[in-house]
Amino acid sequence: MPGICVIGLQWGDEGKGKISVYLSRGAKAAVRFNGGANAGHAVRLNGRELKFHIIPIGSVFADSAVIGPGTLIDLDVLIDELRKLEELRGRVDLMISERAHVVLPIHKSLDSMWEESRGARRVGTTGRGIGPAASDRYARFGVRVVDLLERETLREKLRTALAVHHLGDGERSEELYDWLVSRVPVIDSYVRDVGPYVAGVIDQGGAVVYEGAQGTMLDIDHGTYPYVTSSHTIASFVPLGVGVSPRYVSRVVGVVKAYTTRVGGGPLPTEIEGELGAIIRERGHEYGTTTGRPRRIGWLDLVGLRYAAELNGVDELALTMVDVLSGLNEVKVCVKYEVDGKTTSRYPSTVERLSRVRPVYQVLRGWKGLEGERVREVIEEGYGGLPVEARRYVEFIEEDLGVKIRLISVGPGHNEVVVK
Ligand code: GDP
Ligand code: IMO
Ligand code: MG
Repeated sequence: MPGICVIGLQWGDEGKGKISVYLSRGAKAAVRFNGGANAGHAVRLNGRELKFHIIPIGSVFADSAVIGPGTLIDLDVLIDELRKLEELRGRVDLMISERAHVVLPIHKSLDSMWEESRGARRVGTTGRGIGPAASDRYARFGVRVVDLLERETLREKLRTALAVHHLGDGERSEELYDWLVSRVPVIDSYVRDVGPYVAGVIDQGGAVVYEGAQGTMLDIDHGTYPYVTSSHTIASFVPLGVGVSPRYVSRVVGVVKAYTTRVGGGPLPTEIEGELGAIIRERGHEYGTTTGRPRRIGWLDLVGLRYAAELNGVDELALTMVDVLSGLNEVKVCVKYEVDGKTTSRYPSTVERLSRVRPVYQVLRGWKGLEGERVREVIEEGYGGLPVEARRYVEFIEEDLGVKIRLISVGPGHNEVVVK
């Protein structure tokens, strides 16, 4: 399948990185099309945990790594990860879109200032400058990667950006200029127009993995606004964020964690309070890959997933972290919401309404045995080797969503996957 999108269907951290790595073996390109270094994609490869924030993690296997025009680039993170990838693979075939925007240090300061001013309604951002950089982009004060190569334009743009935010004078703008220019020699040879490259790969029959960042519920318009990120996270954004026509998207893989997590503010209807939440958090190592913050834990929410699967036109699902729930006597799944005395299957469009819903649960039997050596045996045995209750869980989700689960992830390792 030539153009595969890997899209999170919850609030991020579904295991998109691990699934992207799994799907990138033999691919010609791994592509990031949205978000920035707010993303944190991790996988265990040959016993070592690898984390990437801006370079697509699929590039540990794919022939090339592409960072599309839909992204916001943190130069220091990029340079750091470029070295890391070179250590792993030698010279890297990296392509950075000239149209992508650059996150400046002022964006990070503004990110924390804006959060402060929101008080109790803070979004709980990752502090990576995403909101302010995205807002400069749309207000047309943004600095793009291509500007780094045109010194006089860069000088002028920096002066304007600082003036708009009332953040300084000529001296400050010179400092910012020097800071940026010192980084240019490391990246300039990778800068290009990436859309035609990606289209060319697919035209010649090569496979491309579009590696989504964040998740559907964090989409700026279709997520739980304002507790969202400042970009689109859904499959419709792939062609825009890469610079190819929609016909270069052939398949959408929705990634779903076997339970739900959320970092930062905003409602989480199925949140599990108390000890059980803490147990799942520890077993799943549910601490942010980017910020280290503990992730909030909830049961699987089929109302949200139906909405997300429909919105993304999901062709198949990858269910992750099935091992993490192993050992529980029972697992709950939210099948509908109750709001103001009535039940509903509709996902609300406002966080005010979402905060008022009460999940209606169906309780399923838990499974045991997906630990240690047994995991390796299950992978060898295939789908039939999974505990019967885990299979029941998988099939329950498939039936409800009307979408097949093709990949079942049972550990952080890049090949700890059962194919159904
Ligand atoms: P992403 O942002 O969607 O790529 O997800 P993250 O990488 O932020 O968080 C997922 C974490 O869980 C990473 O540390 C993965 O290596 C790990 N992981 C992925 N799939 C599984 C799984 O099936 N089981 C376990 N135990 N860990 C997994
Ligand atoms: P990956 O790709 C989970 C969340 C933040 C916050 C909100 C806005 O690893 O799944 P931002 O810094 O983007 O302005 O923060 O979005 N958030 C993520 N949560 N995984 C991510 O990425 C996230 N990227 C942003 O926690 O609630
Ligand atoms: Mg993550």
